[in-house]
Amino acid sequence: ARLVVLVSGSGTNLQALLDAAADPAYGVRIVAVGADRDGIAGLERAERAGVPTFVERVKDHPDRAAWDAALTAATAAAEPDLVVSAGFMKILGPAFLGAFAGRIVNTHPALLPAFPGAHGVTDALAYGVKVTGCTVHLVDAGVDTGPIIAQGVVEVLDADHADGGEALHERIKTVERQLLVEVVGRLARHGHRIEDRKVWIPA
Ligand code: GRF
Repeated sequence: ARLVVLVSGSGTNLQALLDAAADPAYGVRIVAVGADRDGIAGLERAERAGVPTFVERVKDHPDRAAWDAALTAATAAAEPDLVVSAGFMKILGPAFLGAFAGRIVNTHPALLPAFPGAHGVTDALAYGVKVTGCTVHLVDAGVDTGPIIAQGVVEVLDADHADGGEALHERIKTVERQLLVEVVGRLARHGHRIEDRKVWIPA
C-alpha cells in the first residue's frame, strides 16, 4: 500500500513507520511526507530516508479553504492508499476528508473518547486518571472523534505530576509507535471495513 504521512514535529512515529517499511514484507511504501511547517525533525527524517516531502503552511494561503485544497492536491499527487496523521497539529479540512474518506488514520496520545484535542496528555494528568494511553483511529470531521481501530494502555505514576507530563508522554509514545506500526501494517495488508462505527480488519 502507498502511504502518505503528515507530521508537525519530531516525527518519531514517522520514523517507526519508515523503519518498518524498510522490510518489504511489511507491505507499506511511504511515498511522501507532508507538513504544515518547515524546519522540523520530521521532515529531516523523511529526507534522510529518501522520501519526497511537501510543506503547506496555512499562512501562505489566503484562507483555510485554500490551504485545505493545496494540502489535498499535494497529498493526492502522491496517490496514497492510506494517509497517516502522525502528530500533525492541524485539523484536516473538508476537501481533504472528502478526497481520502475512510483512509485517513490518526494517532492520539490518550484513550479516546476521553481527552481529545491538542492537550490529551496533560488533560488526562490534570483530571487525575490512573491509566491513560493512546488511540489509533480513522479521521472524521470532528476532533479525534472518528471510529477507533486500536488502543494501548499506559499507567499514570504519581511522579508524572511532577514534570508536567513529559515522562508520561514519552511512555505513551513508546506504546503509540508500536501500535501505529502494527495497525498501519494490518490495514495495508488486509484492508478494513466499517460497520456501525466499528472498524474491522480481516485476519
Ligand atoms: C504523538 O504523541 C501524537 O499522538 C501527538 O504528538 C506526538 C507526536 O510525536 N499528537 P512525534 O512527532 O511522532 O514524535
